[in-house]
Amino acid sequence: MLERVDVKTRQADAFRADVWAGLSRPQKTLPSRWLYDDRGCALFEAITQLDEYYPTRTETAILKDDAAQIAAFCGRDAVLLEYGAGAGLKTEIVLGALDAPQLYAPIDIAADFLEQTAARIRRRFPGLPVHPIAADFTSDFDIPSHVPSERRIAFFPGSTIGNLDADETLAFLERMRHHVGGGGRAIIGADLKKDVSTLIAAYDDRHGVTAAFNLNLLARINRELSGKFALDQFVHEARWNESESAIEMHLVSLKEQVAAVAGRSFAFRRGETIHTESSRKYSIESFSDFAMRSGWRDRAIWTDPQRRFALFGLSAE
Ligand code: AVI
Repeated sequence: MLERVDVKTRQADAFRADVWAGLSRPQKTLPSRWLYDDRGCALFEAITQLDEYYPTRTETAILKDDAAQIAAFCGRDAVLLEYGAGAGLKTEIVLGALDAPQLYAPIDIAADFLEQTAARIRRRFPGLPVHPIAADFTSDFDIPSHVPSERRIAFFPGSTIGNLDADETLAFLERMRHHVGGGGRAIIGADLKKDVSTLIAAYDDRHGVTAAFNLNLLARINRELSGKFALDQFVHEARWNESESAIEMHLVSLKEQVAAVAGRSFAFRRGETIHTESSRKYSIESFSDFAMRSGWRDRAIWTDPQRRFALFGLSAE
């Protein structure tokens, strides 16, 4: 119990520090990880079901269509390390296709979510050892020694890699490579660059679910940090940033106003924005370049007929 209180306090301190620092910058910014409280997770789940949001169903279709090839790429006795627990259906497609998988290790910082995922996979695949690892996969951590070190496969679906900046992406890919060791492999889902209108629609849907997801960040600040944001005085905007090859989510201030957060005030000009997320879109070449620079070799690419999304098969040697 004490430990749980401690974690909550540390999380609140980190949230306040990030909000104060982010709102003090010339381009106000908030780290996208704070979008995912319970309401944010539920809204993100709703986003994945939207007509306009193609990545989830496209990646799922690729996994289903190419399951046999993906399983062959992983080989027999695979030890599947999944970064971010609970890709749900996607994990089940891969585990269901693998030839005699040795062990499944979901990795996530959200302990409750991790346990739910582990329980679901144990029910679905009785006999498969499931070893959850509670860790923040965006920072350094070791894979516990009870996880066999041979035949490790890092699985990172969902195009979450696109939410990292360039330095974080390289650090993350290097960490993954270290985790799987010399003979290991990786399967990583990344969204591909496409026409801007498709991208804008995917991040600014007509039902306003993505807008609610973005605005929930201000509601969260109000709830958890005694914030005083006027929620009806900010609107969601999705923008394409060509030089970063990324869709950006912003919250736009509709008027000149001041918002207080945990005792500090932040002034907004009319039209000024808070940048809340970047979602990088790759070409096959730009992703391969990141893979190569972090010591991986690209071995396989699975994509859909329209080339909207790609799963990259990498090997550590
Ligand atoms: C979690 N991540 C891969 C999503 C994306 O597409 O970048 C987050 C998201 N933001 C708005 N819609 C979806």
